[in-house]
Amino acid sequence: MKVLHMLTSRLTLVVKSIIIATAIVGSGQAHAAKTIEQKSIILPKSDPDINLGKMNYNVKCATCHGINAAGSAKGPSFLNRVYHPGHHGDAAFINAPKQGAKAHHWTFGDMPPVEGITDGQIAKIITYIRALQKANGIF
Ligand code: HEC
Repeated sequence: MKVLHMLTSRLTLVVKSIIIATAIVGSGQAHAAKTIEQKSIILPKSDPDINLGKMNYNVKCATCHGINAAGSAKGPSFLNRVYHPGHHGDAAFINAPKQGAKAHHWTFGDMPPVEGITDGQIAKIITYIRALQKANGIF
């Protein structure tokens, strides 16, 4: 009987450890940045504003946020629901390039301010990013 009891409590411990380990891995995944495969990205229909936004984005943002906002080893994809307009409104997209952004969602480190970017360029970049997000079902 004693042996059985010991076995049961050991088993309970093992099960508990597995549950805790799963919880830790699970919470880690929520913050693990995923790079989106290029071929799975749906491109928005181009128009002059979107094209201009894309050009500016490719020069100023793509090194970190990836071509077509796919993400890279240096920054997150904007095709992640975290960047839904309800979570990160346009104000966040204006402030981040101007002032930089402290690392808080991911483990890439801080985003430095983007040198020499203008309000006009940012506005077009936002149009482009929102069009990409819309085409890919983020909103
Ligand atoms: C040198 C790399 C780098 C460049 C260039 C860069 N970013 Fe970022 N950006 C990052 C990183 C890293 C984060 C994630 C910070 C975090 O952990 O939340 C980020 C986060 C952001 C956020 C979210 C800020 C918030 O409030 O959470 C926005 C918006 C953003 N970037 C927009 C841009 C735009 C627009 C451009 C181009 C004009 C750009 N970034 C260029 C690295 C970069």
